[in-house]
Amino acid sequence: MKATIAVLAGDGIGPEIIREALKVTRAIEKKFGHEFTYTEAITGACAIDAVGDPYPEATHEICMAADAVLFGAIGDPRFDNNPTAKVRPEQGLLRMRKQLGLYANLRPVETFDSLLHKSPLRKDLVEGANFMCIRELTGGIYFGEKGRKDNDNTAFDNCVYTRAEVERILKLAYEYAMKRNKKLTVVDKANVLETSRLWRQIAQEMAPTYPEVETQYMFVDNAAMQIIQWPKNFDVMVTENMFGDILTDEASVITGSLGLLPSASIGLHTSVFEPIHGSYPQAAGKNIANPVATILSAAMMFEYAFDLKEEGALIRKAVAASLEQGFVTEDITKENAKSTSEVGDWIVNYIMCQ
Ligand code: IPM
Ligand code: MN
Repeated sequence: MKATIAVLAGDGIGPEIIREALKVTRAIEKKFGHEFTYTEAITGACAIDAVGDPYPEATHEICMAADAVLFGAIGDPRFDNNPTAKVRPEQGLLRMRKQLGLYANLRPVETFDSLLHKSPLRKDLVEGANFMCIRELTGGIYFGEKGRKDNDNTAFDNCVYTRAEVERILKLAYEYAMKRNKKLTVVDKANVLETSRLWRQIAQEMAPTYPEVETQYMFVDNAAMQIIQWPKNFDVMVTENMFGDILTDEASVITGSLGLLPSASIGLHTSVFEPIHGSYPQAAGKNIANPVATILSAAMMFEYAFDLKEEGALIRKAVAASLEQGFVTEDITKENAKSTSEVGDWIVNYIMCQ
């Protein structure tokens, strides 16, 4: 097939991990006879430096025109430690999500047998854990009105959800539950928040439409605990934007490293595929970051955006083999750690030899 991929490497380790993911997509092109066009565009701190805008219109146009977006990471310590900065790299990511209508962020949490010993949890708790977190991505406190008042002495961030926003994400979550093990956990804070009560009310209205799915309601604090205590009890979890942000970082480490988890953001326009980790500025330029989450994001791109299941499966198989062989970066091993590019090359070589 022919497809256009917008490539947004971003900041920090972004360019290095994207480079490895692109080696992999090129290997897949060759192996399966596809023809992809790659269009690079800037976003994040590097775009602020270049044009003063973390998500320039030119970048948005490239994303809109593409069949998929492969995204690295954004963020820069220069901005983290400056709470008064008016323009921030993260605004670029948020605007991209909003402008592309990416209301659903799919974050699969899967353990790798060969890495069970790296999990901070006991092996018997994590072995076989496999669930899908579906995070609402374009609403809630991230996008509500925010500001300062009382001469800058009071700050506020409003959390707002409309019925339409909640319905579309719950519908998608139910559809995933139908395709998986038919258990849906709706995570909220309905004992305190009005938005959560709207979520729960709508979920209760929709549940009878999916009689085969067991719907479970869970407060977010309890969910944070249960992810650690019984990760195997989850199948599909759906939640609002900020709860999803927090819970997926938590869920990711039970697999052994934050550097392993990919994600897909889907919605109204072009889908975006990105690792769930950040820009890891301390590692930038050192060729030590783990490229696996980005390579697995490319696998999700093949499966979700292009419906190329065999290609996605081959990438997954190659990644699993690299982990089994212990051919891994330093976040996973202290002994004989490989570099970012060595891991990418190993995976490419495995793919080409199949
Ligand atoms: C994520 C990140 C972003 C978020 C940041 C970089 C704005 O943490 O994708 O999870 O909070 O959504
Ligand atoms: Mn996050």
